Amino acid sequence: MSESPAAKPKLHVDPYEKNWMRFTIILLIVFAAAVTVAGFALGFQVPSPEERVDPNNLTGPWENPGLRELSPDIYDLYIIANSATWQFDPRDVEVPVGSTVTFYVTSTDIQHGFKLQDTNINMQIVPGQVSKLTYTFDKVGEYPYICTEYCGVGHAAMFGTLTVVEQ
Ligand code: CUA
Repeated sequence: MSESPAAKPKLHVDPYEKNWMRFTIILLIVFAAAVTVAGFALGFQVPSPEERVDPNNLTGPWENPGLRELSPDIYDLYIIANSATWQFDPRDVEVPVGSTVTFYVTSTDIQHGFKLQDTNINMQIVPGQVSKLTYTFDKVGEYPYICTEYCGVGHAAMFGTLTVVEQ
């Protein structure tokens, strides 16, 4: 007996398994919607590696980290995370309210984190790479920045403060 090609058996999928396949597809749609809302409506930013540097020989703006005023209310801020001293350099920064600050952060040695409280600035800091994100400060106040990745005995001491003051 020979089977004709038209009489191919149908693929049998258990109804229980079919429901899990449906559930998985719905989950994927929910995740895609969540990422879209986070990125376009809530302003989530993904830090991209801005440039590569030599962590043993930081040159240019890194020789004198800190704030650079590019034009009124527009700043670049260079911060070095360092675990020889377990601190961010600089540790205190002050900008007037309404300022747009672009953060450039790198590490001289090991991996750190950089999170600016009450903002969407949260980046991984990797030696040899510069992480970059931008934020506009519309409210006066203190914005502590902390290391969010365990980096050794001084991890808990790694913090600084960005203060936003009246114009
Ligand atoms: Cu630096 Cu934790």
